[in-house]
Amino acid sequence: MPDPDLDFASRRRAFLRTTVGALSAAAAATLGLPIVRALFVAPPASGVAWSRVGPVDALGAGSPLEMKFETLGEDAFLRTPELRSVWAVRSGAGNIEVYSPVCPHLGCHYLWNPGSGRFECPCHASVFALDGRVLSGPAPRPLDTLEHRVDAGVLYVRWTQFRAGVARKTAV
Ligand code: FES
Repeated sequence: MPDPDLDFASRRRAFLRTTVGALSAAAAATLGLPIVRALFVAPPASGVAWSRVGPVDALGAGSPLEMKFETLGEDAFLRTPELRSVWAVRSGAGNIEVYSPVCPHLGCHYLWNPGSGRFECPCHASVFALDGRVLSGPAPRPLDTLEHRVDAGVLYVRWTQFRAGVARKTAV
């Protein structure tokens, strides 16, 4: 006749082995998937994904529009939506230019002043023309343009952050 104590002990060992195995597999999958994705999923050619900003049909010539949208911030484990904005400007010829909303001086967010017809930064009073040129103030370079395209009336941008306070436009 089998020893019931011995039978219980072996069933308990088997149960613990199965549980520990399942937990180890789950932990390996959780930790390993981001690594596998980083190794085998190719990033976009420029390293920056396109973000959908929105329709540009309401964008009038000479009247910049601040357009808000979301990008997906990624670290090894999480994809977190991040709220962004850009200034879109349509020229008289109908071309669209897109500026980062970050002042190239020290990184404040500047605004469009419809009264003066200028972009103005509230932090240290840099002033920019509609075409992004520095008109006055300490800004060391023009407004930073962003790579963009328009598909079927919808604006897409490659969101990029640039180094503030330097004369050369440099992505960070
Ligand atoms: S941050 Fe805009 S002028 Fe200084």
